[in-house]
Amino acid sequence: MRYISSGHSHGEQITIIIEGIPSNLSIDIKKINEELKKRQKGYGRGQRMQIEHDQAQILSGVLFGKTTGAPIAVVVKNKDYQFHLQYMEPFAHDLTNYNPIKVPRPGHADLVGAIKYNFRDMRLVFERASARETVSRVVVGAICKQILALLNIETLSYVKNIGGISCKIDFDKTYIEKSLVSMPSKTASEKAMELIDETMLKRDTLGGICQVEVNNVPVGLGSFVTDETKLDAKIASSVMSIQSCKGVEFGDGFELSNYFGSQAHDEISYEDGFTRQSNHYGGFEGGMTSGMPIILKAVFKPIPTLMQPLQSVNIDTKAKTASHIERSDVCVLPAAAIICEHTVAIEITKALITQFTSDTIEQLIDAVFNYQKYTKRF
Ligand SMILES: Cc1cc2nc3c(=O)[nH]c(=O)nc-3n(C[C@H](O)[C@H](O)[C@H](O)COP(=O)(O)O)c2cc1C
Repeated sequence: MRYISSGHSHGEQITIIIEGIPSNLSIDIKKINEELKKRQKGYGRGQRMQIEHDQAQILSGVLFGKTTGAPIAVVVKNKDYQFHLQYMEPFAHDLTNYNPIKVPRPGHADLVGAIKYNFRDMRLVFERASARETVSRVVVGAICKQILALLNIETLSYVKNIGGISCKIDFDKTYIEKSLVSMPSKTASEKAMELIDETMLKRDTLGGICQVEVNNVPVGLGSFVTDETKLDAKIASSVMSIQSCKGVEFGDGFELSNYFGSQAHDEISYEDGFTRQSNHYGGFEGGMTSGMPIILKAVFKPIPTLMQPLQSVNIDTKAKTASHIERSDVCVLPAAAIICEHTVAIEITKALITQFTSDTIEQLIDAVFNYQKYTKRF
């Protein structure tokens, strides 16, 4: 299974083509749109999210509500396009009131992208580098989650830390949906929202950490046989490719450097099949799922666009100047958590579809359930 997306942040639409989804999968479009809505919410988002009301429109690859096995084409319109039409239309020629952006923002893709592609206007970089692209990951991930649900595989995501505020007390996963910052703690949510307000007043931005959990994954997805087949590496690579993600860890991750081996390894026991007494490795051994829940954390840096701009240089005059200001978010961690969850769902679905017979959804379900019976008997 693979997908490709095309689209600009302020262009007409994001277009997505997905190939390799088994036939006969009933598609619940409402669920896709619910996930898109979750990507847009969160305390600390900018005005853009008040304009956009993302709705996926499936154009082909689905008939009578079910996948046909052919490539699926999906579009999500950008409502913001109407305000940028004059220059965002692909063959725009009336540029009388258009000002090219000459000053790159530190932390964004602006400068390096302009050098690499020989652009004299930063817009040509950030229109694609922007996280608007993650709409495509959520659409594809939402379809994948519909496959995973049929296999009883559940995904969950939440925000663990915003600007150093973490969920140390009153940890309660049922609070995630209620929290405006998607944190599983009322105390941490309130503190994080206060910090976001203060940060906005200071015209600054915040980063943080999100966590994804996947339960009931069959043991042995992925493989140890080559670097390319290791599933933890594939998931890490995909999550790292999300805009502003700066690190990924599984299980206890970097903390493992402080453990002795006797404290680190997940001891093996047998209760109606093989299991582990702990999950320090976050569900992976040898690049394969261990059967324990997948636990992934990802760290997101503070958003590059600041309302109190940092120092930069005009690419034409080479004069020192304040960097470009573009309407921006203060904190995107709730959205980042949803994007991470869908990215992980995509990689797990790809692994399942690669490993098991999957022309039809019925074949995939049969193959996975038979394999799970075998792993229980082993
Ligand atoms: C959901 C989400 C929303 C984002 N919104 C903004 C934004 O409003 N302004 C901004 O400067 N960067 C934003 N970013 C981050 C930039 O897109 C990102 O830092 C930039 O593309 C450079 O990529 P890198 O940080 O991975 O190096 C956002 C990232 C995510 C995940």
